[in-house]
Amino acid sequence: VSAAPIGVFDSGLGGLTVLHAIARRLPAESTLYFGDTARVPYGPKSPDVVRRYSLEIMRWMVGQQVKAIVVACNTSTAHALDLLRQESPVPVWGVIEPGAQAVVQVDPFHPIGVIGTAGTIRSGAYQRAIQALLPGAEIVAKACPLFVPLVEEGWFNHPATRLVAEEYLTPVRARNLRALVLGCTHYPLIKPLIQEVMGERVTLIDSAQETARAVAEGLSQSGLAAPPDGTASHRFVVSDDPERFRRVGTGFLGERIERVEVTALGTG
Ligand code: DGL
Repeated sequence: VSAAPIGVFDSGLGGLTVLHAIARRLPAESTLYFGDTARVPYGPKSPDVVRRYSLEIMRWMVGQQVKAIVVACNTSTAHALDLLRQESPVPVWGVIEPGAQAVVQVDPFHPIGVIGTAGTIRSGAYQRAIQALLPGAEIVAKACPLFVPLVEEGWFNHPATRLVAEEYLTPVRARNLRALVLGCTHYPLIKPLIQEVMGERVTLIDSAQETARAVAEGLSQSGLAAPPDGTASHRFVVSDDPERFRRVGTGFLGERIERVEVTALGTG
């Protein structure tokens, strides 16, 4: 049993969807969220740069006495999870494995779709995770880089977002799949729109929900769950622009963020 916080980090705001899912599922757990708002987006950056940033954040979080770390960013999970697991003294969970586990259960007889940032798709991490669970699976992977800025703008149901979704997803839909992983922190916010474009036969897998489930299991297995005494607290730290984080983050999290601290990571 441990009352120490769970560290949850992302390149920016998007990981709040993962935090939200964790806080709902594990109300007794305290959390420390870090959003690397000074260096977002990670999606188009090279694997080495994303690894370096992720390692800095992991070390900072360990210094803040977290008991476990959740890499809420798909791009960071894709490039850096193995490295973080080697280097971290506390357990580290990513978002890709839980999403892959859920998607292979939907329908093993049709192709499986994955969408994410350019870096996530290019890394092949989802493709490998799915193949490991379902050897020989046909996978349709598509980078949708414009979704992140559209979501950041709050255009969840805007005609521009719909147009972009149709452009990206029409060839994916044509492959006759039944399951699609939303392999990016931001995509759950446009889930209804993606569902409309993909059609109702396609099951959308939201890695935030699946990750929260994996974290709950991992904590209880490792004996790290918090005592259910109702003293959970949630701390938010960013590397730049706390005001915007508070404003836009409130929409992502679905509840008000009161206080956001700033720390200069990677500059010291
Ligand atoms: N958090 C990133 C992800 O899940 C999306 C935003 C970015 O590109 O940094 O891949």
